[in-house]
Amino acid sequence: MPWTIEQIERRFLGFMEANGHVVIEGHSVRSPTDDVLFTTAGMHPLTPYLGGEPHPAGQRLTDVQRCVRTTDIDEVGDDTHLTVFEMLGNWSLGSYFKETAIPLSFKLLTEEFGIDPHSLYVTVFAGDREVPVDDEAPAIWSQVFTGAGVDPTGRINPLGEEDNWWSNGPVGLCGPDTEIFVYVGEEGVPVFGDKPEFVEIWNNVFMTYDRSKDGELTSLSQRNVDTGMGLERIAMFLNQHTSVWQTDELAELAEAVAATLGTSTADLDTDGTRSLRIVTDHLRAGLAIAAAGIQPSASRQGYVLRKLVRRSLRHAELLKGTDEGLLAAYAAAAEAVSQVVGRRWPDVGGSPDGDAARAVLNKEAGRFAKTLKSGVEHLHDLAEHGTTFDGDLAFNFADTLGYPAELAAEEASRVGMAVDPGWEARFEELREEQRARSRG
Ligand code: SER
Repeated sequence: MPWTIEQIERRFLGFMEANGHVVIEGHSVRSPTDDVLFTTAGMHPLTPYLGGEPHPAGQRLTDVQRCVRTTDIDEVGDDTHLTVFEMLGNWSLGSYFKETAIPLSFKLLTEEFGIDPHSLYVTVFAGDREVPVDDEAPAIWSQVFTGAGVDPTGRINPLGEEDNWWSNGPVGLCGPDTEIFVYVGEEGVPVFGDKPEFVEIWNNVFMTYDRSKDGELTSLSQRNVDTGMGLERIAMFLNQHTSVWQTDELAELAEAVAATLGTSTADLDTDGTRSLRIVTDHLRAGLAIAAAGIQPSASRQGYVLRKLVRRSLRHAELLKGTDEGLLAAYAAAAEAVSQVVGRRWPDVGGSPDGDAARAVLNKEAGRFAKTLKSGVEHLHDLAEHGTTFDGDLAFNFADTLGYPAELAAEEASRVGMAVDPGWEARFEELREEQRARSRG
């Protein structure tokens, strides 16, 4: 039986609830803190409580948190990257610690999700200059494996700060962690290592430190547990898929979007598949961001939203094969996404916020449509004349035409222009000069 996203979510939250956790609402994708643009991890909205402030729902919490990692946007289109992804998490705010967290994780994976304990491997913190080796976590893991009749030899791997220390940025809360992997390869007695056959599925952070701006590490007043499991990734693993786009909800979304653009997933080649994933992902993320009350603009969160809309409009056009009726098709695609996603994300579905979010996306798409057309035509002309795409040209596109530089660069490669590998550096230099001029 395939695992649906909804079943996984329900099973996780139900298990945590049965183990004394209170299910709380995830925070919006708008960052709860000023230092970053979006919510980046399940623990992010819980920062004050991990720091010692009492949480109104108690000391054991669980939720599903939508997260945005903007560094992943350009990778979207492959098998694993998404602009918005969801994290299943459970937290102990100074309640239980490693002795409970580790057996709880093991039980959920093996008994609820039915994962063979023989396929589980873990890493633990080996210590560094500042913090001693974690010798408790490996001892607990050893007991847990042995108790399940699994020889722990080779399964518990101490690694350094690079791998087993988690922090949500250069300053703030942090701590050693233990990461859980499943082996998906064929070897009878695999040797743990940095290989694709070992898929990381869950992270348990023992959040016990705070790093100050000047780099100093202090111990927190309470010992916390912060866990995070990527929902789309676990769904992919449990169903033995090779891409998150094979999991039920994303597959349904992509098919619905394809239909609005007059195609179907079965008819697409590699480039078409990539375009469809970009349109679907960017609409899903764009709607979540707009539903959080963010408007497209030239900077910060607004710029991310603008980029998502503009890029998805271009890829929708590529799939459709014409700009005729493009905006109507784009609106239909946004509607299709909000219907499917809205089943689990009510703010993006048929709610006032969801309606407003769609209107924001459609308006931004409408404003960009003309620029898109002239920008693409201009690049085609330049390609015919053998022009190289460089930073000056990118700046000209962004500044004069209002055509985002990264989109122009993507298009330039698509139409076969030579792309100067230093274009971004030069583009940034020109932008900086412009900023300096406007500062006077
Ligand atoms: N904060 C950790 C992570 O995001 C565990 O939740 O991986």
